[in-house]
This record gives sequence, C-alpha cells and structure tokens, in this order.
Amino acid sequence: MKTLHIILASATTLLLAWSSFAPAQQPADPQAFARGAKAWADNCARCHNMRDPKDFRDDQWKVIVSHMRLRAGLTGQEARDILAFLQGSN
Ligand code: HEC
Repeated sequence: MKTLHIILASATTLLLAWSSFAPAQQPADPQAFARGAKAWADNCARCHNMRDPKDFRDDQWKVIVSHMRLRAGLTGQEARDILAFLQGSN
C-alpha cells in the first residue's frame, strides 16, 4: 500500500511537472533536456536522417513526437524528454 502511494504521488508530481512546462515558452527542465538530447541521438536517426530541432515549431514537434513515439517504441518518459529537448532547441 505504501509503495502504491509513493507511485501515485510520483505519477501526480510528474503529471504536474509536465503540465507546467508543456505550455510553449517556459524554460525546460534542464535534466529532462539532457536526457532528451541523449534519447533523441539514440533513437531518432535509426530510420531516417535527423531533422534539425529548428525545422519545426513547438506545436509541430508535439504532434511529431507523439507520432514517432509509436514508431520508435519510446516510453512516455523518453518521449517527454525528447520533446523537452526539441522544444528547448528550436
Ligand atoms: C522505427 C523507425 C522510426 C524511428 C525510430 C523514428 N522515426 Fe521519424 N519517421 C519514420 C517514418 C516511417 C516516417 C514517415 C512516415 C510517417 O510520418 O509515419 C517518419 C517521419 C518523421 C518526420 C516527418 C518527416 C520529415 O522529416 O519532415 C519527422 C520530423 C520525424 N520522423 C522525426 C522523428 C523523431 C524526432 C524521432 C525520435 C523520437 C523519430 N522520428 C524516430 C520512422 C521513424
């Protein structure tokens, strides 16, 4: 039970953290940004050339990453980190 509480509390924290940095121009969490940069390098050039983060706007990257998340088989965390990296680099 205690574990479940901890999991639920962390999930809520993550959700809150996510919703607070999801709106476009806020500074991304530096750790998410760093993890995202690595996950992006590891995953996003497997099937096609890398697109420059500057090629798309924040809202476009959001749609692209949700689509590519399925193709690349990313976890939700990896997808959020990659999005943080892309939106923080364009
Ligand atoms: C399993 C293979 C695969 C992986 C991994 C993958 N993609 Fe893709 N990607 C595709 C395919 C296939 C298309 C074109 C068809 C489509 O849109 O589904 C595409 C299209 C795209 C496009 C639009 C076409 C363009 O270049 O303008 C972008 C942008 C893109 N991917 C970015 C990413 C990013 C960012 C990642 C990492 C999160 C990623 N892709 C990982 C297969 C992949």
